[in-house]
Formats: sequence, C-alpha cells, structure tokens
Amino acid sequence: MTDRLAARYRRFAEQEARGRSPLYEACAFGVADDARLLRILAELPGRKQQPNLLFAALRVACGMPRDWPDFRKKFLAHTNDIIAIIGTRVTQTNEPGRCAVLLPVLRCLHQPLALIEVGSSAGLCLQLDRYGYDYDGVHVGRESPAPVFPCHAEPGTPIPDRVPEIAWRAGMDLNPLDLRDASDVAWLEALVWPDQAERLERLRLAMEVARVTPARVRAGDLTTDLPALLAEAPVGPTIVVFHSAVLGYVTDPAKREEFARTVFDHAAVWICHEVPSVFPEIAARAARPGPAGSFLLAVNGHPVAWTDPHGAWIDWLEPH
Ligand SMILES: C[S@@+](CC[C@H](N)C(=O)[O-])C[C@H]1O[C@@H](n2cnc3c(N)ncnc32)[C@H](O)[C@@H]1O
Repeated sequence: MTDRLAARYRRFAEQEARGRSPLYEACAFGVADDARLLRILAELPGRKQQPNLLFAALRVACGMPRDWPDFRKKFLAHTNDIIAIIGTRVTQTNEPGRCAVLLPVLRCLHQPLALIEVGSSAGLCLQLDRYGYDYDGVHVGRESPAPVFPCHAEPGTPIPDRVPEIAWRAGMDLNPLDLRDASDVAWLEALVWPDQAERLERLRLAMEVARVTPARVRAGDLTTDLPALLAEAPVGPTIVVFHSAVLGYVTDPAKREEFARTVFDHAAVWICHEVPSVFPEIAARAARPGPAGSFLLAVNGHPVAWTDPHGAWIDWLEPH
C-alpha cells in the first residue's frame, strides 16, 4: 500500500513538480522516502492522498514550508489539523491562465457566445473576455490592472484579434468556491504552487475582476445536471460547453462518454481541455504526440492543440 503511495509521490516529483517547483519536487521526494508519513497518508481514501491536496492543506494549516525538513516538522506537529483540511477540501485550482489557450478556439466560433463551464471552481475562467493576453508580444483584450496572461503560441496558432463576445455565461461545480469567503480565497491561493509569484499575482487580479462582475456558478454535477443548465441558455448565441482539468475527476469512463453525448445532443460546441488520458480515443486522433504532462485541447472531439496545463503555451495541431 505504501509502495504505491511512494510511487505516486515520486511520479509527482519527477513528472509534475520538476522544472516547475523545486520546493514541491523536494517535498514530494521527501514524502516518497518517508515511511512514517506514508503510513499516515495511507490511512486516507485514495482520492485524498493527492500530493497537491496535502501540500495546499499543510500551507493553510501552518504556512509555507522552507524546505523538506521544515515540511516534515510542520506535518508531524500539525497532523490532525492538516488531515482535517484534507477531509473537507478537494483540489479546486482555478487557473485563469488557461483562458489564453481557449481564446483561439472561442474566437473562431460564430459570435456572440453563450458560455457554460462545468467544473468551474470559483468561475475565474468564465471571465475570459475581461482579461488581457500576451501572445509573444501581441496584446489582446484588457490592459492592466486586469491580469495579463502570457502565452507562447507556436506557429500556426490562430491568435485571436480580440476577445470573444460573450452574451451569456454560467458555471457549474460540485462545490462552487465563493470569492467573498476568506477561507475559500485562502484555499485558492494555497493551491497555487510556490516559486510562482507572478501566477499568484495574476490569480489575485483575476479574483478582483470576478468580484466586480461575478459570473453565476451553480452547485451541480456535470454528469447529471448539465441538461438543466443548457435549458437556461438563451436562443441565438452559439452555445459552448467547456471544461479544463475537470473530467479526470469523473473516474468512470462511461460517465465521461455520457457527458459528451449530452453536449452533442444539445447541439452545443464542446471544448475539452484535459490530460489526454481522459478521452484516449480523441488523443489517438492527434496528428502527433504532445510533450509529457501536456493537456490536449479538442473541439467536438477533434484534437486541435497541445497545451501547457496552465496555459503558458499552445502548440496548434492543424493548419489554419
Ligand atoms: C482542478 S479544478 C479546475 C477548475 C477550472 N476548470 C480551471 O481550469 O481553473 C476541478 C474542478 O472540477 C470540479 N468537479 C469535479 N468533478 C465534478 C463534477 N462531477 N461536476 C461538477 N464539477 C466537478 C471540482 O469541484 C473542481 O472545482
């Protein structure tokens, strides 16, 4: 049991944290080699053993660790508090930087759009027309004080000339986070990895935007409650259902397929931005494989680009 858990933390260190967060890489290797910590974590249900969840919970309970020895000391001193946070929270990282890779697809659609995001967390990706973007020096959208998301676009990417026109927007999440609630905000901030001060700063600016013009995010399960939300969308605008880093949490592949069928049945445009393993048959149709750890962007089941999971780059697959 602890062997599998150790392998999970080692994989996280090598494949997710390496090159992105030296602190998380060191802590994940530390956990993987620590029999005492592994025994404690092994008592938790599998979905609660996620490295991201543990690291964010530790930061909320006792602040940012300096290094692995400090992490271990804090964990052992505050185990009960950390386990309690793990018990009540889930990973709900809301990364508005992902909007930068959604924009090229959204701008190609017939405007205006009625946007539905499933798994929207605090709804920051629903604000995509209220942010700015920097595609290798080409600015699109708002200027500072709105957040400006940098995105390196490989040749062939249809860089949008402006932000999409949004006529209506709504989100759905199992547990919508509330930007007026200090503990939800603290949780969102703790989910941003350390060593990423600019990302945290952009998250804070995006939260400011969303506080001024909140988007409605209702509580619901994408596997059962999507038809009710689709029924609320106005007639006229192009209806788009999108999701980013969500379908991996729907562990039953049959339910993922059923969700996709629901979107098709309602003649909505389906934008899927996920790890490729979520819909392997879509990934198999990609013209070429993506780099390890990348997300696949697909429209109506057709792969269109490999992307950085947080929206820092986009590599378009098809001639435009
Ligand atoms: C990692 S977060 C991603 C948030 C957002 N899509 C983004 O890209 O910033 C995943 C979100 O999906 C939500 N989620 C997971 N399973 C869901 C389901 N069956 N129905 C609705 N939301 C779900 C979680 O509550 C969480 O807020």
